[in-house]
Amino acid sequence: MKIIQYDNVIENESERDFYIETHKKILDFIEKEGETTFWKIVRKVQGSDRRILRLLNEMQLIEEIKIENKKISLINKKDHSLKSKDIFCKNCEGKIIQFDENWLNILKKMKEIYKNKPTPTFIYDQRPVNAKTTVRRAAYLRYKRDLIDKEIAVIGDDDLTSIAIGLTKVAKRVVVFDIDKRLVNYINKVSEEQGLNVKAYRYDLTKQIPKEFSNKFDVFLTDPTPNPDCFSLFVSIGLRLLKKESGCVGYVSFFPSHQKEEIDFQKILTDWGLIITDMIPKFTEYDFVEFTYRDKDKELLKKFDTGEERLSFTENITRFITSEDTLDIQYFNVSHFSPGKATQRVLENIEKDPAYMKGEKEFVLESIKEMELENET
Ligand SMILES: C[S@@+](CC[C@H](N)C(=O)[O-])C[C@H]1O[C@@H](n2cnc3c(N)ncnc32)[C@H](O)[C@@H]1O
Repeated sequence: MKIIQYDNVIENESERDFYIETHKKILDFIEKEGETTFWKIVRKVQGSDRRILRLLNEMQLIEEIKIENKKISLINKKDHSLKSKDIFCKNCEGKIIQFDENWLNILKKMKEIYKNKPTPTFIYDQRPVNAKTTVRRAAYLRYKRDLIDKEIAVIGDDDLTSIAIGLTKVAKRVVVFDIDKRLVNYINKVSEEQGLNVKAYRYDLTKQIPKEFSNKFDVFLTDPTPNPDCFSLFVSIGLRLLKKESGCVGYVSFFPSHQKEEIDFQKILTDWGLIITDMIPKFTEYDFVEFTYRDKDKELLKKFDTGEERLSFTENITRFITSEDTLDIQYFNVSHFSPGKATQRVLENIEKDPAYMKGEKEFVLESIKEMELENET
């Protein structure tokens, strides 16, 4: 019997078990769908786009699946009467939100604004979501009454969620905190051009807390790197920004589809007296980043690319509210913060950074120097 060569799929030994499990889930998904595509698997199962491409290629080599007109099906088909595609909501794609004309107009503007936004840099662990996700977030805030006349903070905004919220023109004000001066400048420029009440400030949140903004906000949103340290840091800053009353609101994303689900994030929220009110799986879709593709991956992409909207991976969206227990919490000690995996990788090989590759060498090198200087002091 032929078996999958996981060495051709994974980039690190620690990923092996996860992709063995992903293989089973993909088989199950194809069986329930009957016929599917590469992008649907990235959207609805688990795993990173590049590793799923390699895994599907292996599954084809061992004659588990076949690909006809870029559609994927099982070779030994078991016909299922209860296909998951028949019970899945086709309007909202399982994300609760659907766009009417108003939201479609905002999406159109966001797609234009996205064209000129700074190229992500892994130095700051950036991995932006797609434009549709930012508008979905704003619409979800509206649905939950977290938008109209609210003071909203966005902590780290490579996604430009602040702009999507600003474009609704119904929030009282939106304030952004981010370390990347290109993003801060771009958000302030768009805000001025479009007449929005959005203002961005440059802060290194590992070194400095926006004290003058303490206890001023009704709602905060953040999408930290999904490791417990970064998560704790960004959420604890959000909690400092919220008004000192129970029932204030936080939005965060975690459980990235390329990582095993662990208890840590949930524990942090519980320890801080935060009540999870909503969690929608796979709500958050991360943009496709071609820079991360090796030449072999690019070849595989040609084989599997159906022309559907591309993405890299997904995460949930989680909404929580503060309780009486949140008011006196011990905040996270920022000196414990350690950078994410992508940052560690580009610090070892800067030529792999998307912004560096796109020609923003000076900015990237200057940012590294700044970090080194700060670490020395
Ligand atoms: C940490 S990144 C996470 C990206 C991605 N959404 C993910 O889940 O991997 C989110 C935002 O935080 C900003 N950021 C990173 N480090 C920061 C720091 N030390 N201080 C302030 N903002 C920071 C980035 O520029 C980016 O806009």
